[in-house]
Amino acid sequence: MAESAKHLLLVEDEAPLREIVAEQLSARGFLVEQAASGEAALAQLADFAFDVIITDLRLPGIDGAAVVDAAVERYPDIVAIVVTGFGTVKDAVEAIKRGAWDFVSKPFQIDELLHALDAALEQRRLKSENAYLRAQLEERYRFEGLIGQGPAMKRLMQLLETVAGTNSTILVTGETGTGKEIVARAIHHNGPRRLQRFVALNCSAIPESLLEAELFGHVRGAFTGAVGNRQGRLEQAHRGTLFLDEVGTMSAALQMKLLRVLQEREFERVGDSHTIKVDVRVIAATNSDLVRMVAEGQFREDLYYRLNVIPVHLPPLRERKEDIPLLVQHFLDRLGGAARAPITVSQEAMRRLMAFHWPGNVRQLENFVERAVAFSAGRPQIEAADLPAELQQIDPTPAVGFVSLPEDGLDFTAFIANIERELIVRSLERTGGNKGGAAKLLNLKRTTLVEKMKRLNRPAAHN
Ligand SMILES: Nc1ncnc2c1ncn2[C@@H]1O[C@H](COP(=O)(O)OP(=O)(O)OP(=O)(O)O)[C@@H](O)[C@H]1O
Ligand SMILES: [Mg+2]
Repeated sequence: MAESAKHLLLVEDEAPLREIVAEQLSARGFLVEQAASGEAALAQLADFAFDVIITDLRLPGIDGAAVVDAAVERYPDIVAIVVTGFGTVKDAVEAIKRGAWDFVSKPFQIDELLHALDAALEQRRLKSENAYLRAQLEERYRFEGLIGQGPAMKRLMQLLETVAGTNSTILVTGETGTGKEIVARAIHHNGPRRLQRFVALNCSAIPESLLEAELFGHVRGAFTGAVGNRQGRLEQAHRGTLFLDEVGTMSAALQMKLLRVLQEREFERVGDSHTIKVDVRVIAATNSDLVRMVAEGQFREDLYYRLNVIPVHLPPLRERKEDIPLLVQHFLDRLGGAARAPITVSQEAMRRLMAFHWPGNVRQLENFVERAVAFSAGRPQIEAADLPAELQQIDPTPAVGFVSLPEDGLDFTAFIANIERELIVRSLERTGGNKGGAAKLLNLKRTTLVEKMKRLNRPAAHN
């Protein structure tokens, strides 16, 4: 995509000079507005976000230095270039201290001005890119904390590795708090677009009336309050990844516009007729049942298929409880930081964490761990009493909570036998091999325990 045209404000009181410069700059693709005085410049700056301002320092009334001050204060990213008369370098240096990027001295060749302008724009681009990359590095660090080693997570990680290398559109589904956003970031950070932007837009967090402009950008005057031209998230994500969160909440009108973006990779800013082409990878996420919404006519079927090119489903935490201890440790480490001694979790507390059904999934677990740490008041171990009320009330009978049914099922008889064996071995360990004591711990008759031990020692004969 060619960079979008830059809006430039030219402030110069000598009309002939101003006209000539304006003409030359327009010819180079700048969208030029003119101001003949400092007062006029301030008025224009007040209602339009210019990318560039070029101002003569010496103006009748409000001078160029004050114009630069106002411009930089209002738009910290603006590129300001000052024009000085009669080689008054001192004034130019002063202007640069106040935030101007460069200066040219009168009389100047237009090429001199263009050169200063190009260099300043390039520097500004690098500056914002660096700031952006630094932020992304921190993001990347966060993604590496995608935790889970159970079969469900292993399968997920494999899938992520495969899809990250492609440009296909992905639909991430899963209940709230299952990690849809960190998975979307993981896909981006492991793919060929990793050095470009990951731009997120939560479609449910922004009022419908503003969402369109947020996504597509707008031009000045497109609607009340649209004081300047603005890039939308789509343009910001050019060459990178656009993450559309809660995509199920989009209105019918917007669904249609999004469909066009996915099909043609082009769109217009709100209020503009100029078509912009973008190269974006789209990852959408939703916790609503889009299939049902399609059936009920609330979500476009064609859009659904365009989004669901590669489906990535995140299982709820209650279906992968085997990852809970690891997740808890991960959150504890993160909370503890380097300075604090490691925090552990008592067996009773862990039993309760494992028994809970986690309607808010990983996010809820994260919150509960954080609260428990606060309640543990610096003790090295989190006790059951430190856990929130929801976890005080549940029955932590292990068999209820520990069991999770893998997606592809399991061997029932072998699984039950494993649990029996585990319990018998543990109770024998605790009683130093005393079968009577072990039977008591398990609330079994001694003879029943012995019978079970014999059966479990035989090679599997259940099938
Ligand atoms: N596998 C995981 N490993 C480590 N942290 C995780 C994992 N999954 C989720 N989290 C953490 O849980 C929290 C919720 O994750 P995320 O925001 O990605 O969920 P979500 O599915 O987008 O939720 P919602 O539907 O509510 O927006 C985040 O703080 C995230 O870091
Ligand atoms: Mg989310």
